[in-house]
Amino acid sequence: MATDGAFQVAIIALTVAVFVAIQYLSKLFLSRQRANNRTALQSNRHFIQGSQFLARARSAAAKNSSQSQSLAKQALAEAESAAALSPKDPAPLVLKSVALDLLGHKAAALKAIDSALSPPRGKALQGKERGDALVKRAELKVAVNRRRRVDSAIEDLTEAVQLGAGGEKGYCLLGQCYEWKGSKEDAKWAYSEALKFEPNSKLALDALGGLSS
Ligand SMILES: *[C@@H]1O[C@H](CO)[C@@H](O)[C@H](O)[C@H]1NC(C)=O
Ligand SMILES: *[C@@H]1O[C@H](CO)[C@@H](O)[C@H](O)[C@H]1NC(C)=O
Repeated sequence: MATDGAFQVAIIALTVAVFVAIQYLSKLFLSRQRANNRTALQSNRHFIQGSQFLARARSAAAKNSSQSQSLAKQALAEAESAAALSPKDPAPLVLKSVALDLLGHKAAALKAIDSALSPPRGKALQGKERGDALVKRAELKVAVNRRRRVDSAIEDLTEAVQLGAGGEKGYCLLGQCYEWKGSKEDAKWAYSEALKFEPNSKLALDALGGLSS
């Protein structure tokens, strides 16, 4: 069960990283102002390289962990360069957070996603993009300090699902948070919502089985 949870969480992180990168890049290429701005172009370049290192780090993770860690470090360095050049942009901080998470630095990863979401920078993250970042923050909150942060993780997940983010995995994490709080009925509701996205969700079905026995 614990292993299953960790696996699911890793998948959420992957979805978030890829999604944010694609959103961010499509926005960049549509922005002519940025195309005429040298600093922004350099920042984009670091961000794109960082996203590529991260993608490679993830695909190496199962095969060669030392190679994966060294790629994640390169992704982190690129994210930091992008963030230094575009301090008002949340996307490099999201990338930084995912890289730190992959390196096992959960508390630092939480701090980075927190600053990505904080105003005024966080205003640039909207809709599903904000929702995905909120799911990521919730996941890190429970990883860093479940006991103290479960309520604020629930707040993040509630907003995220209202924004249409998270899907099956977001609702499963929400259900898990309610279980940790002892709120069985809320947990059942969240797992049933997860089944609307993925009727065969093993995580949701197992959890519901456990809750009704
Ligand atoms: C893992 O990657 C490192 C560096 O990229 C390489 O030197 C090493 O041989 C690889 N190990 C395996 C088991 O493939
Ligand atoms: C150029 O881009 C940087 C980084 O995104 C930004 O901080 C700066 O305000 C932009 N400058 C102009 C003139 O648009």
